[in-house]
Amino acid sequence: MRDFEGKTAVVTGGASGMGLAFARRFAAEGMNVVLADIEADALNTQVTRLEQEERNVLGVIVNTMRRETLENLRDEAIDRFGNIHILCNNAGVASLDDAGMTSGEILGPWDVPDSTWDWVMGVNFWGVLYGCQVFIPHMLDHGEEGHIVNTASVAGLIPGGGAYGVSKHGVLALTEGIYQSFEAMGAKLSASVLCPGLVNTNIGHAERNRPSEFGAPVDPNDEAREGLLSMLSGGMDPEQVAGIVFDSIVEQRCYILPHTSWDDFVRGRVDNILARGAPLTLDFEELMRRRAAGEQV
Ligand SMILES: NC(=O)c1ccc[n+]([C@@H]2O[C@H](COP(=O)([O-])OP(=O)(O)OC[C@H]3O[C@@H](n4cnc5c(N)ncnc54)[C@H](O)[C@@H]3O)[C@@H](O)[C@H]2O)c1
Repeated sequence: MRDFEGKTAVVTGGASGMGLAFARRFAAEGMNVVLADIEADALNTQVTRLEQEERNVLGVIVNTMRRETLENLRDEAIDRFGNIHILCNNAGVASLDDAGMTSGEILGPWDVPDSTWDWVMGVNFWGVLYGCQVFIPHMLDHGEEGHIVNTASVAGLIPGGGAYGVSKHGVLALTEGIYQSFEAMGAKLSASVLCPGLVNTNIGHAERNRPSEFGAPVDPNDEAREGLLSMLSGGMDPEQVAGIVFDSIVEQRCYILPHTSWDDFVRGRVDNILARGAPLTLDFEELMRRRAAGEQV
């Protein structure tokens, strides 16, 4: 896709972090932008800010775990701006009681509570699938150029089977399937999967949006959160990721990997698979050395 002026982009998780940065970048390119989020106050604040900058913007409350809220989002977006050209299925959450997240005792994937599996898979995987199911038929029907960006993570490219890692592996496979289907159909659409390392966003406080039916939020003073927050605060700026995403849409790249520090691990994972042996163990000390040397991890 090369022509952005006057076209329309819809971004889920658009009130914070990377989603907000994508929406602001699309608006700066002259696009109409639709910010969709579960967090009403943050959404209103960001929509008002864009309106004050005289951008064409609409805010819609959604819970991407619920398909009907995405159907409403599509209908409201079309009513306001007409055809939709870019969809970013970006809303996502991480839970501190997931495998690999908790400080202290080692939790296996089987120890993760069902409520955490349901919430994390519900937003990170089902929310992305619902977005594709609801928007792609419209985008194929109108026949104009367009692009889908699904946010996974580097966690979708390396071993690690908590709910977060499993959900992001699902988003990767789903997006590859979508890309190949568009190619096979000769559609004017393409698809990308975004697999960042650490980005400086609010995901360390994702529990703020955890519906009560999916379990109580984990203790806000949990030691693991401190570690996560400190790692995230040194992460890449969301605006930098947005620039890389924008260029990848122009260049029709399927795989968007903003952080090169993880390349050796991704390669090592595939090597271990082909050696038919054990999964790669991540060398976190090596990652920390790279981080201390100023690399983005
Ligand atoms: N920050 C990182 O280091 C990092 C790394 C890799 C991937 N990611 C992924 O990036 C995406 C964006 O997260 P972020 O880091 O910008 O975090 P963020 O918390 O700043 O933004 C996420 C947004 O999603 C919204 N959201 C949460 N649940 C929702 C739901 N059910 N329905 C609609 N909106 C919902 C939140 O309100 C928030 O505005 C996520 O998919 C996340 O998994 C983040």
